[in-house]
Amino acid sequence: MELAFKLLFPLATAFYLLPKLIACLIIAHQNRKFAKSHNCLPPRRLPSSFLGLPNWVRLMRAAKRGEALEHIANRYPTYGNTWKGRVLIGTTIGTIEPENIKAILATSFKDFSLGPERHDNFYPLLGDGIFTLDGAGWEHSRANLRPQFSREQVSDVEALEVHVQRLMDRLPGADGEAADLQPLFYCLTLDSATEFLLGESVDSLLSPKLIPTGTISRGKEEMSFAQAFNVSQGYLIQRARLRGLYWMVNPKKFRDANAIVHRLVDRYVDMALNPEKRTRKVSENKYVFLDAIAAETKDPKYLRDQILNILLAGRDTTAGLLGFTFWLLARHPHIYQKLREKILEAFGTGGDGEGKRPSFSALKDVTYLRYVLNETLRLYPSVPLNGRTAVRNTVLPRGGGEDGLSPVFIPKGQRVDYTCYGLHRRKDLYGEDADAFRPERWGEGVGRGWDFLPFNGGPRICLGQQYALTEASYTVTRILQKYARIEVADTYTGPMMDLTLTIAPKEVLLRLWKA
Ligand code: HEM
Ligand SMILES: *[C@@H]1O[C@H](CO)[C@@H](O)[C@H](O)[C@H]1NC(C)=O
Ligand SMILES: *[C@@H]1O[C@H](CO)[C@@H](O)[C@H](O)[C@H]1NC(C)=O
Repeated sequence: MELAFKLLFPLATAFYLLPKLIACLIIAHQNRKFAKSHNCLPPRRLPSSFLGLPNWVRLMRAAKRGEALEHIANRYPTYGNTWKGRVLIGTTIGTIEPENIKAILATSFKDFSLGPERHDNFYPLLGDGIFTLDGAGWEHSRANLRPQFSREQVSDVEALEVHVQRLMDRLPGADGEAADLQPLFYCLTLDSATEFLLGESVDSLLSPKLIPTGTISRGKEEMSFAQAFNVSQGYLIQRARLRGLYWMVNPKKFRDANAIVHRLVDRYVDMALNPEKRTRKVSENKYVFLDAIAAETKDPKYLRDQILNILLAGRDTTAGLLGFTFWLLARHPHIYQKLREKILEAFGTGGDGEGKRPSFSALKDVTYLRYVLNETLRLYPSVPLNGRTAVRNTVLPRGGGEDGLSPVFIPKGQRVDYTCYGLHRRKDLYGEDADAFRPERWGEGVGRGWDFLPFNGGPRICLGQQYALTEASYTVTRILQKYARIEVADTYTGPMMDLTLTIAPKEVLLRLWKA
């Protein structure tokens, strides 16, 4: 017996550990050669003692205060635009270097994937869809979606008008009365996205149960779709912070919230499987994503995942953009007035809901409106944090060496994180007043190329960019036509925004005065 043990250890070493060790040494040697042949130098290090545990604890504390995003973005001014750090059982490279982000998203696109961290972590809520898939699955989803975003379909502002009018009908009738616009924006983008992509709107703005806090109550205990979607995403972020250990966070509240979200979506799955249940007529000249995927398969799980991914894309991002735009405009009355003047110059006040409704192309011509939206997306990019995993050995062009000007070696499996929130606030790119809301800077040649990435770039660039900008421009225009003045009435204390997969203001409580 004793002898067996005595033999076992050396045998195990010889037959199992030794080959592993040798393989590791060979890979390390090959990596060094690869790095050297590309003139790579090591990036700066984020101090990472004890498995980076102190860093992780600091991040958790910041998250508790609601300041995780600022905390992450502040690492860059402190440690440089590209650094390497340890996070629990893995390492990450952080970067806000435009050249590097361009490599990750475009020039070296094939060297990176969303990675297991995205797919496996997000799976309980999002399943297999455009936000979680790489390779053939992603290409297939994207091909099914692309016809949805043809110019003809995206320019249909008539379809938006219905929902924007319903939103305005829910604003207070009396001048100077306070209302929270953020929940209304969530409803607006959900209503319009469901109609656009799925052929039938959920019409949440018509629900008498829409209460001022923006939730649609269905009985006392049950979370609304909006709440559940928020709760689920909150857990996804908590899980993401644990990196490879994400599976440790899987409480009942998370699973319940996922189930509530899936129930809303299953209404559409049902429509896809049983066309006779639809109330709309399928029109021949319109492409509807739901019809396209329904023609393809009868697998309810596949249909649900596809629908849910695109709802995440269409609802939260644009609602955040609209929320931040009004949050900022209310705090900058002179910009509100200037924007309103430009809008009235182009379209008049559009009284009685008729008047001059802005057309798709005329909206694009209101340059100052575009300045305001770009400036809002610069300060508050809807998707503030993002990252990829290397699928083979590769190189980022900047960040190596003391001066950060040499290339950095990225071994296969390495996680690389980037943050548009940090990138967009770089003072060397946007000037000393980079933290200030100043739409005029867009007339001064800022934000060219890879300095400004609210919609990402490369083969995975946002498909909904035109649709989102049209929806936001149209909504801002209709509200400014009607209201001569707005004022801040927020009641929250502490941080002003919520961070889930996207960001949005906690509330946009305003007083409005009609023209
Ligand atoms: C202000 C509004 C929006 C912003 C800032 C925004 C931003 C983004 C960003 C940053 C990504 C890349 C995400 C990643 O790296 O995984 C993305 C992807 C995507 N967006 Fe948007 N988005 C907006 C609105 C929309 C809308 C309204 C739709 C659809 C109705 C949409 C559809 C998509 C789709 C389908 C993708 C996935 C593309 C792919 O992976 O191939 N987006 N968006
Ligand atoms: C959304 O979830 C976050 C936590 O992830 C929470 O702080 C926030 O209050 C929630 N917002 C709403 C409107 O429920
Ligand atoms: C807004 O930003 C985009 C880049 O996403 C740029 O192409 C466009 O010219 C900018 N608009 C204005 C009016 O500066």
